[in-house]
Amino acid sequence: MKYRDTRLHLRGESLFSDDHSVPEATLMGAIVASPIARGRILTMDLATAKKIPGVKAVLTADDIPGENQLGNIIRDEPLLAGGELRFIGQPVALVVADTAATARRAAAKIQLNCEEDTPILDPREAFEKNSLIAEPRCFQIGDPDGAWADCAHIAEGTVESGGQEHLYLETQNAYAVPTEHGGIKLVSSTQSPTAVQRNTAGILGLPMHMVEVDTPRLGGAFGGKEDQATHWAALAALGAFHLNKPVKVLLDRWEDMRFTGKRHPYSSDFKIGLSADGKILAYQVTFYQNAGAFADLSTAILERSLFHATNSYFIPHVKATGYCCRTNLPPFTAFRGFGAPQAMLVIEAAIHKAGGGMGIPYSRIQEKNLIRRNDLFPYGMKARSGNARASWRRLKSMSALPALHREMKTFNAKNPLVKKGAALMPVCFGISFTSTFMNQANALVHVYTDGSVGVSTAAVEMGQGVNSKLAQITARTLGINVERVKIETTNTTRNANTSPTAASTGADMNGHAVIMACGTILERLKRFAAGALEIGPHQNLAVFSERVFLGNKPLAWDWQTLVRNAYLARINLSAQAHYATPKIFFDRETNKGRAFAYHVHGAALITVELDCLRGTYRFELARIVHDAGQSLDPLIDRGQAEGALVQGLGWISLEEVLYDEKGRLITDTLSGYKVPDIFFAPREIQVDFLSRTPDSDGPYNSKAIGEPPYMYGIGGFFALLEAMKAFRPDLEPDYTAPLTPERVLTALYS
Ligand code: MOS
Repeated sequence: MKYRDTRLHLRGESLFSDDHSVPEATLMGAIVASPIARGRILTMDLATAKKIPGVKAVLTADDIPGENQLGNIIRDEPLLAGGELRFIGQPVALVVADTAATARRAAAKIQLNCEEDTPILDPREAFEKNSLIAEPRCFQIGDPDGAWADCAHIAEGTVESGGQEHLYLETQNAYAVPTEHGGIKLVSSTQSPTAVQRNTAGILGLPMHMVEVDTPRLGGAFGGKEDQATHWAALAALGAFHLNKPVKVLLDRWEDMRFTGKRHPYSSDFKIGLSADGKILAYQVTFYQNAGAFADLSTAILERSLFHATNSYFIPHVKATGYCCRTNLPPFTAFRGFGAPQAMLVIEAAIHKAGGGMGIPYSRIQEKNLIRRNDLFPYGMKARSGNARASWRRLKSMSALPALHREMKTFNAKNPLVKKGAALMPVCFGISFTSTFMNQANALVHVYTDGSVGVSTAAVEMGQGVNSKLAQITARTLGINVERVKIETTNTTRNANTSPTAASTGADMNGHAVIMACGTILERLKRFAAGALEIGPHQNLAVFSERVFLGNKPLAWDWQTLVRNAYLARINLSAQAHYATPKIFFDRETNKGRAFAYHVHGAALITVELDCLRGTYRFELARIVHDAGQSLDPLIDRGQAEGALVQGLGWISLEEVLYDEKGRLITDTLSGYKVPDIFFAPREIQVDFLSRTPDSDGPYNSKAIGEPPYMYGIGGFFALLEAMKAFRPDLEPDYTAPLTPERVLTALYS
């Protein structure tokens, strides 16, 4: 097992931010949250709570020394609600006490007297009432309004998709320590140390250099700690700032589920037009995104929905419109796929419906319309590879589909109450932040005099294996053993102005920065060695397997000697490098540009067996052909693909986020919210990698892995619909996700 942290995790020795030993003086924070989804605070009684022994402070919006303002795109969110309440779970006050139990007991004693308004919970209702967070966005290509006349078949419909709880194992937490000159040091479980630093500085009215953020590693994040780790860090910092003592804030599972945002629910309308032979000519889609109460990352997520509105297909006439609808639910946020899953579910549903109407298998329409190299995406970028088709072909040839379909037919004919279904799911995902400026990273590399190497980057390890990849990249670039390399914690003092570890770009961008920094050091070492050993131009020197080579000839110096002698000759053994993804741009006026460094393609086959008496089902086979470039670490990439697939299957099947009519989360415990477990995972998961691809622009011709495989799970939705149709051939498909057993059973007997 190559994954760096395996040994630590197995032995329980990994240090998460809550594991850092804290001084005895450390105080604990608890959150007082809004009990209503919409309205205002009339009075708030803090006196009773303040009198409880052990309570050190109760802090409200009035105690914020800087600006009571959060937000990384649109600054519309207060850290602590002043008067207006916008969702149930919105932080109103922070209680700081000597123990967490005391803090929570005191928080529960705080009486809020509120005036309550009727909340808006539905995105279409928000749209009707013009409750929008931003101007609508529209991506368009060709002549989408004129193209319908040429279509032999047109299908229209709606698609609903639900939220999804991140359920990272480690709940949100942060730890703040006051430092000299009124500064703060934070240990924060965040994907974005710089965002925590910037927002905390704003809250406290400090310059950014007075706030240091350190992130050791995360126990999972999945997007849930891209923007929404900030609140808890800023609150801990606020407590530390006022009391001049270390303060820790750690949400318990119940708080975490209620207070923090989830994947955005979408409600969408589609219209698709095809030629008689199944060529998609026109596609029109409108996304009503339930953004929740504050902007958070919603506009960026909606933008990615527009980018991925046509998934892996080439469609000449497209109009995709998105509305970012403000409701009174906790702000929905980043979640693996970042708006792409919601969009891809809609185009797949459109194709499925068209296939049903035309009486041709929808997989034939999928196949016929897969994008080719140099075809245009609706945002004006050319497909750089033919991998949409290559992965599909490979999947088909591996799967003997005609035989599989025959077997299923026979099985379904023999079994009146158990039905099988299968579906294919192509995926195309663009790699780069769609906000071009965010596509930058930096690395700081120190070679120590004993030859060991310390590497600091902007990348946050959250279980995805980025540290293993960065260590391998370092070792490969310097020509040394990977055991010499240590990947440091992510820290704003060592790596400034960083982007979140998100958008699947962590290993790509930080890996490139590491290659650059290591290259600089290596260049200095080779120049020095060429001079000291009096051998020709330094370009002829190389280091590999821990030895200096002249061409193919090993020299007397090993890595350690080289480093030691260079140090004595006063050569700089440290380097910092900055990487900015080249060639990308995007014009938000025209919505055109080369928005992505490259795309990741792939295709999956999902099969399911449905118990038509109970509505329960089991995914049987998931076979994936995935374009990972020259994988830096096939084991890690396989793990990411399998995990993402199961998470995607969970979203479309089991995981149902429910709110009551007051905007209160009903599914706020793990007994009420069902997530995939090992028994739910497909009986067999096969992941095959496409090896050589022309556009592998990641480090050493690798490609990003984190998000793309999530969308293979969408195939499970259509496999289920096929199984349901085998039981009820007259069934009109309802494109509402998740297809919970309850929903399946109701549909089968409706
Ligand atoms: Mo990720 S959903 O881009 O944090």
